[in-house]
Amino acid sequence: MTPSETTVPYGIPLDRETRFDPPAAIMALHRDAEMRRLRYHPNGRLGWLVTSHRLARAVLSDSRFCSRLGGPAQAPVAMSGLEAYADFEGDFPTTPGMFIEMDPPDHTRLRRKLTGVFTVRRMRVLEPRIEQFVDQRLDALAATGAPADLIEQFAMPVPAQMICELLGVPYEQRDRFESDTSAIFTLNSGDDAKEAAFGRLFGFISELARAKRSEPTDDLLSDLAADPELDESEIAGMGMLLLVAGHETTAKMIGLGTLALLENRDQWDLLREQSELMATAVEELLRYLTIIHTGIIRQVKTDFEFEGHPLTAGEYVTVSVQTANRDEAHFIDPDTLDVTRGAKGHLSFGHGVHQCLGQQLARIEMRIAFSRLIDRFPDLRLAVPADEVPMRTDQSFYGATELPVTWSDRGQD
Ligand code: HEM
Repeated sequence: MTPSETTVPYGIPLDRETRFDPPAAIMALHRDAEMRRLRYHPNGRLGWLVTSHRLARAVLSDSRFCSRLGGPAQAPVAMSGLEAYADFEGDFPTTPGMFIEMDPPDHTRLRRKLTGVFTVRRMRVLEPRIEQFVDQRLDALAATGAPADLIEQFAMPVPAQMICELLGVPYEQRDRFESDTSAIFTLNSGDDAKEAAFGRLFGFISELARAKRSEPTDDLLSDLAADPELDESEIAGMGMLLLVAGHETTAKMIGLGTLALLENRDQWDLLREQSELMATAVEELLRYLTIIHTGIIRQVKTDFEFEGHPLTAGEYVTVSVQTANRDEAHFIDPDTLDVTRGAKGHLSFGHGVHQCLGQQLARIEMRIAFSRLIDRFPDLRLAVPADEVPMRTDQSFYGATELPVTWSDRGQD
């Protein structure tokens, strides 16, 4: 191994020294070089690690790097950004409907079916409904009283209810998707457990889509089920992708974002006084917290030279979004949470053709969730010492697993 190589499990280091900063090891690699050789575990395969903002954007917008990495057995890890970890050899077919792991033209054909649904305008129409979900949850919190776990009672249910309603998945059946989604995103759950979880989820959505084909309801899954250009497995794959991508991610951001604001009380107070800052605050929280801590993985499609490095077809490239979002060449004072900065150009929703389809929905959910939480419980605080808040680093998305909070009843008036 040459000095410029690094050998790390899961493509990039995961252990963190502090709650909000990327692991010191990945920051050190970033300061040392924008791009370097990487050896993946456990297959020993050679690839590349890209850490700068400039090169992260370049890789994600270059069609010589593709998203098609593995076949059905690898699909759950493909969702979690662990493709390079899977011991994949050969050319397996991609899971039907899972366009996150496809390239144009297949990717374009399927994504195009949904772009109209997720526009800014269409998402704005949903605002009153999101406000309702948020208010119901906050009412329930107030009724139960302090202390409470904000993850279980607020951060998880709000995005889960919303994506269920949009898709037409009964929220009462969340037992059929919440723990399987979590297993898919868990890094050490083992291939068998992931495959089993993946299979159950696929079956659950297929079953629902079949029912909606014979008896349509007013929702996205019914629309997809009625589309003559899509076959049954594509519909199930697309529905599953939306369900899986659409709740745990935003939930992690609402939970971790609240913790970051509580721990940076001046920023919480600023938002309390100037609610018009909320849109920029959400972008800054996305940048500062960068919950996708395993990075985004691409595969080199053809031999070519990139930034002076000789790339070989089939090699994987891990794009470290966390270091890109803390890159001093792009953001001034990147390690400071500053809700007034706007964080233009952060890469938390990715970049290029695969840029997050649900980003407008996620933004609105976060904006409404933080605004109403601050309004309703202005003196919200942690109910345990900050270092006792349990954090989860063994999933492709980083976040708090519980957030015990308290407040005074007077604070609510
Ligand atoms: C893609 C992050 C919320 C649906 C992505 C990608 C990232 C991301 C980084 C790009 C992956 C790649 O390039 O390989 C996030 C974060 C979220 C969030 C941080 C919350 C804060 C959502 C929501 C939905 C959603 C709410 C659904 C309603 C999708 C889909 C893709 C995607 C379908 C695949 C797009 C494609 O391949 O063309 N997301 N996401 N995401 N996201 Fe999100």
